[in-house]
Amino acid sequence: MLSKGSNFISLSDFTKEDILATLSLIQSYDDQNLKRFIPNKKKLLANLFYEPSTRTSSSFFSAATLLGHEVLSINEVKFSSVAKGETLEDTIRTLASYVHCIVLRHPEEGSAKKAAAVSDVPIVNAGDGTGEHPTQTLLDVYTIWKHWQKLDGLTITLMGDLKYGRTIHSLIEVLKKFDVNINLIGPKDLRLPKTYGSYLESTELTENLAMGTDVLYMTRVQKERGAKGNYALTKLDAENLPPSSIVMHPLPRVDELPTWFDSDPRAKYFEQMQNGLAVRKCLLDRILG
Ligand code: CP
Repeated sequence: MLSKGSNFISLSDFTKEDILATLSLIQSYDDQNLKRFIPNKKKLLANLFYEPSTRTSSSFFSAATLLGHEVLSINEVKFSSVAKGETLEDTIRTLASYVHCIVLRHPEEGSAKKAAAVSDVPIVNAGDGTGEHPTQTLLDVYTIWKHWQKLDGLTITLMGDLKYGRTIHSLIEVLKKFDVNINLIGPKDLRLPKTYGSYLESTELTENLAMGTDVLYMTRVQKERGAKGNYALTKLDAENLPPSSIVMHPLPRVDELPTWFDSDPRAKYFEQMQNGLAVRKCLLDRILG
């Protein structure tokens, strides 16, 4: 569970009860009454991003600032000593001497664990290569839970780059703790690694699959990791999806999620993105104490 001074590397140690308790906690941060979260003691957070980010970096920045903390942003590592060849460990040791918590995004799977091993301050995993993106997963699960008021019993269809998408990998690990029916749709070359489990797989969103779906969770092709593939939500898919279903996407999107769908009441991806603020306020408030 979240506690003062704890790392936040993965949701794998969270039980189903921990996840449900965390979702309720996030809800208490999901309002506009920011005053009650202003802490007595200002803390300093480092936002250390070795990969591009809009939502994760800026929502952590915003969450920390709204909580009354300050943020040291290192979004362009090429302007830091990383450009001189400094190791991740030495960079973390250095920043840990100056700040109270480090939010880390790094292209290498396992980098957050590596950082936590040498850090005197908590490390929050903001995405480690194709590994995990646990704060995204919390906001994904929170969005589903907030809409459906439950997780057990839902059918969730994951569509896109299942091989390289860390949001998919993280999400599956949490969904597995619940009684959720998972379907997969994606190009043959971008299939889910077997380590995450075996589920019903298809290369396209057939009428059958669409009609039985409560949540359609889409992702883009991770071109920066060498992935290649083409798929997109079609007008026919939209017709086949139940009126009660919701469509999610961690964003950024490219061509797979057309803008004509944005005005559809089932489009929940902007609300999903907005939920990132409550999740990160909650995490930072608990971790920074
Ligand atoms: N969803 C997500 O992680 O977005 P960013 O890459 O913009 O942070």
